[in-house]
Amino acid sequence: MKLLDRCLTALMPLLPRALVWRVAKRYVAGVTVEDALSAVRDINSRGASATLDILGEEISTVEEADRNRDAYIELLDAIDAGGVDANISIKPTAFGLHLDEGAAFERVKAVLVRARDLGNFMRIDMEDSSTTTATLGLYRSLRGEGFTNVGIVLQAYMHRTLQDISDHTEWQPDYRLCKGIYVEPEEVAIQGRGEINDNYMAALQSMLRSGSFVGIATHDHALVDRSMECVASCDSEGTQHEFQMLLGVDPVLGGRILNEGHRLRIYVPFGHDWYAYSTRRLQENPTIGRYVFKALFRRKAP
Ligand code: FDA
Repeated sequence: MKLLDRCLTALMPLLPRALVWRVAKRYVAGVTVEDALSAVRDINSRGASATLDILGEEISTVEEADRNRDAYIELLDAIDAGGVDANISIKPTAFGLHLDEGAAFERVKAVLVRARDLGNFMRIDMEDSSTTTATLGLYRSLRGEGFTNVGIVLQAYMHRTLQDISDHTEWQPDYRLCKGIYVEPEEVAIQGRGEINDNYMAALQSMLRSGSFVGIATHDHALVDRSMECVASCDSEGTQHEFQMLLGVDPVLGGRILNEGHRLRIYVPFGHDWYAYSTRRLQENPTIGRYVFKALFRRKAP
């Protein structure tokens, strides 16, 4: 990373909300459910579907976990009433995974019941490695109770991922495959970019060959090209995969994916906690720091 980019990245958390919003509005749909549905309508009109994520920072109380459950149930109702093509993604820690696994299971199940009753689908995001085993356990427990409208995420950088795929073959999970966003030590996760991409491809092939549906979640052009080659042989009918991207990231790539006849789903974060999410996203992509500063100068211009 260049020195200037490093400095801009370090300054990011100190920036005023109004300035961050000027850049972040590209990556966050807004604050309210109506903002989110409006973004989904736009995405749907371009031929893609969406996944809605209510932004939230770490929770520490049962009441916060209950509020998150209720917010997702209301969101499912709003998706249904709005008639848009969108499902939801949840984070187990937002439902109290670190407080009480049993109670977290009940909350997640309550959302899943509503999703099932509305004919919708819920994916469980994968968080840092301290939650991987519990998150996969949560998924199996839900499947064990007969739910089929639930999917999981595996991260290509984890050493354990190929083993996790083979351990779950009998469940034929609906997967999202991503590289992995959390900083993990080398005992837990592969560190080199090339090796992560090779493991991504090995995981994708293994998932498709075992009959699973895979959401190929990446903006890495090389990986998108390799995945397109892979699905041409492993999923020639095109029924077992879609590409997934984050709102606002590389729309040109998204257009290309659609033009080449693949399905595309856009992950749409929204909610009151947009500021913390946005500063993290901006820090992940240092070149975006330059846009923040351009916005700063534009703001000061007469
Ligand atoms: P790479 O990091 O190589 O990025 C390729 C290019 O895309 C970059 O050069 C940059 O230009 C652009 N880019 C990538 N990420 C960006 C960002 N955030 N903002 C702006 N530009 C960006 N992770 C996880 O651990 N658990 C999860 O549940 C999920 N869920 C998830 C859903 C979806 C739909 C996506 C697309 C991603 C995730 N992730 C995730 C995040 C994922 O693990 C990964 O960290 C990011 O997608 C970045 O990796 P890429 O594969 O895009 O490649």
